[in-house]
Amino acid sequence: MNQYEWKRRWKFILLAFALVIAGASLWYTEYLVRNISIAERTRAELWAKSTRNIIAMPDVNDEYITFIYSLRDSLAVPAIVVDSADNIITWLGLDSTKTNFDLDSTKKYDPKYFRRQLKEMKSQHPQPIILDLNTINNEKWYVYYRDSVLLTQLKVFPYIQLSVIAIFLLVAYGVFSSAKRLEQDQVWVGLAKETAHQLGTPISSLMAWTELLKSRFNVPDDPLILEMENDVKRLERVADRFSKIGSKPILHNHVVFEVVEEFVNYFKVRVSDKIEFILTGDEHVEALINVPLFDWVIENILKNAVNAIEGSGIIKIDIRENLVKEQVFIDISDTGAGIPRLKFEAVFQPGYTTRKRGWGLGLSLTKRIIENYHQGTVFVKESELGKGTTFRIVLNSNMTYVPTTS
Ligand SMILES: Nc1ncnc2c1ncn2[C@@H]1O[C@H](COP(=O)(O)OP(=O)(O)O)[C@@H](O)[C@H]1O
Ligand SMILES: [Mg+2]
Repeated sequence: MNQYEWKRRWKFILLAFALVIAGASLWYTEYLVRNISIAERTRAELWAKSTRNIIAMPDVNDEYITFIYSLRDSLAVPAIVVDSADNIITWLGLDSTKTNFDLDSTKKYDPKYFRRQLKEMKSQHPQPIILDLNTINNEKWYVYYRDSVLLTQLKVFPYIQLSVIAIFLLVAYGVFSSAKRLEQDQVWVGLAKETAHQLGTPISSLMAWTELLKSRFNVPDDPLILEMENDVKRLERVADRFSKIGSKPILHNHVVFEVVEEFVNYFKVRVSDKIEFILTGDEHVEALINVPLFDWVIENILKNAVNAIEGSGIIKIDIRENLVKEQVFIDISDTGAGIPRLKFEAVFQPGYTTRKRGWGLGLSLTKRIIENYHQGTVFVKESELGKGTTFRIVLNSNMTYVPTTS
């Protein structure tokens, strides 16, 4: 399993785990809420029953009544008692003064407030507790009640808790992944610089040696030495690329067509001649380019195209200017295996590869060079499995280029 797959799998496992934790904690509080809710209903019923019994009780002394009242009320949840015409008879636990049957007492009575409360209670628990008063005209009272503050809090608390944890985790993830990115940048840059530096000395010696060979044996046109020189030049190109990665590159205006053409000519003799290269489009448009790095980009994309083509195929490069936005489009199409739509983004991730001996670094380097060093973009424009793929590079042309009519 490569690194990309590994990362993806772990992301999936962690996400699943987080969902299980969240689900379990919500389920558990739901269970608590259900049980407390049942208990509160029982308490409301108890309150209602004892209320009825108190009413039915023969007169006893006041002290005893007060005791019964306070015992009863200490058990109950906020409630309102109405008669069959929905008139409010009494209430419980709705304001600071103690409950009283007597509406004429000192207790302040704000009808609007109680109506609102009643409505809320009815919506929370539509089934009232019915108090049969056993009076002559068969009067019944109805007790509506509301969840206690505790229960209400318990209902919302897990959501608040989980949101806070989620926000915390997101922030932590953001901080850590940007720290990681900084670290990666340092490694890329450091390694590239070091490589360029280490290659530098032997390359310049090799160049001197070839010159020396030519003059020592007086064979300035010997094909072996020319081949050797070519390889040394390639090495130099490689070292140059690495040194460019390690420092801020300088961009110059270049005719895109010429830069691409030159590289394609260099490249196509090195791959199977069953692959045909076609270069079309605007031959004059310029863009801001750092040639050694840009060549690397084209090389990565062309190499992938070659890898995607089994046997014979065509690689087409088309260069167009988008005059409105001062951009240059470079579309590189192949007739290869294609990329599944779901992987259009993933191919640019470091470590993503489908090749046995691939490292999955080519396109991630490509993206880096285009985005960080050229302020451009690169993406899979289209692809169809078995048919082929088109990558698009967008560069800035900030040149006022007037197309010639000739
Ligand atoms: N032109 C293409 N056609 C089909 N698949 C492609 C093409 N270019 C890239 N890919 C896919 O993207 C993957 C990553 O490419 P790259 O980053 O260059 O790494 P590598 O070439 O080492 O696999 C490839 O393994 C391949 O699956
Ligand atoms: Mg590659």
